Amino acid sequence: MIVNQELNDLIATNREIIQRELQEHLDKLEIPERLKASMVYSIEAGGKRLRPALLIASFYAYNHNINKVLSSAAALEMIHTYSLIHDDLPAMDDDDIRRGLPTNHKKFDEATAILAGDALLTFSFDLITNDPLLTDRQKVQLVQLLSEGSGPKGMIAGQFLDMEAEKKAVTLEELENIHTLKTGELFRFAIRSGAFLGEATDEQIRHLDEYAHFLGLIFQVQDDILDVTGDPDKIGKPVGSDEDNEKNTYVRLLGLNGAIDKKNHYVQRAKQALNKADAEASHLMSLIDYFSKRDH
Ligand code: IPE
Ligand code: IPE
Ligand code: MG
Ligand code: MG
Ligand code: MG
Repeated sequence: MIVNQELNDLIATNREIIQRELQEHLDKLEIPERLKASMVYSIEAGGKRLRPALLIASFYAYNHNINKVLSSAAALEMIHTYSLIHDDLPAMDDDDIRRGLPTNHKKFDEATAILAGDALLTFSFDLITNDPLLTDRQKVQLVQLLSEGSGPKGMIAGQFLDMEAEKKAVTLEELENIHTLKTGELFRFAIRSGAFLGEATDEQIRHLDEYAHFLGLIFQVQDDILDVTGDPDKIGKPVGSDEDNEKNTYVRLLGLNGAIDKKNHYVQRAKQALNKADAEASHLMSLIDYFSKRDH
């Protein structure tokens, strides 16, 4: 994959920073050992940490002291990880492998996996409300944005619609709506909260919101494309599972070339939005290419 070295370094550096932040918070938890082990297992399983990278990049476009965003970035990664633990459960996607390792319920057991997910979700709010670097107003706003993005108006609605859409045909419009909710809403949280903490103007945040919308769609088209053309060793899960599960994907609706065309269209739209947000020179621009060309 051709991505500029600077961006690769940035993502790697952010990954280390966020890793430390996550570890610190989990280390401090005095809770039953097996529950903690199950939370730590999925957090440490080697996710790409893309959402924290987005949050940090969004903040960095307007402000440079990134200590202010670490609790929100870690909270977001905890919520993302919880959503994957639950997504893999037998009652949902029933998957055995995640991030190249046995899924949480395979490694532990179903009840523990459910509770570890619940724990990561609720603990995430703790991180924000106990962050001494945030003002009370900032905490309230972040908790509001996070509950909107991850809850019934956001990611959970998307997961529900995705489940309902299984084994029935959906239109492209319905598919976009599912992805906007199930994947896009956490991306939107990353972008909105980063810009909010970085003190971007309301107008800039509005344009960034549009950028986040298209970035979510780019991510998902690429996810669908990788399920067909990807290398299982790189993506950490088997390919062809969407087809086996008769999932509605861009590739299924539009064919492989149609899906690639659609992705290029979203890339253009995301770039336009970024220009309007005065953030065209930021890392957010390179992240568009990273997302659209990622191989894992
Ligand atoms: C996978 O997200 C789940 C979707 C929303 C499609 P990522 O590809 O960011 O997963 P990790 O965190 O790197 O494992
Ligand atoms: C997972 O979507 C999205 C969330 C957990 C919110 P998918 O079910 O499509 O993701 P993978 O393919 O398991 O990573
Ligand atoms: Mg799913
Ligand atoms: Mg799944
Ligand atoms: Mg998928």
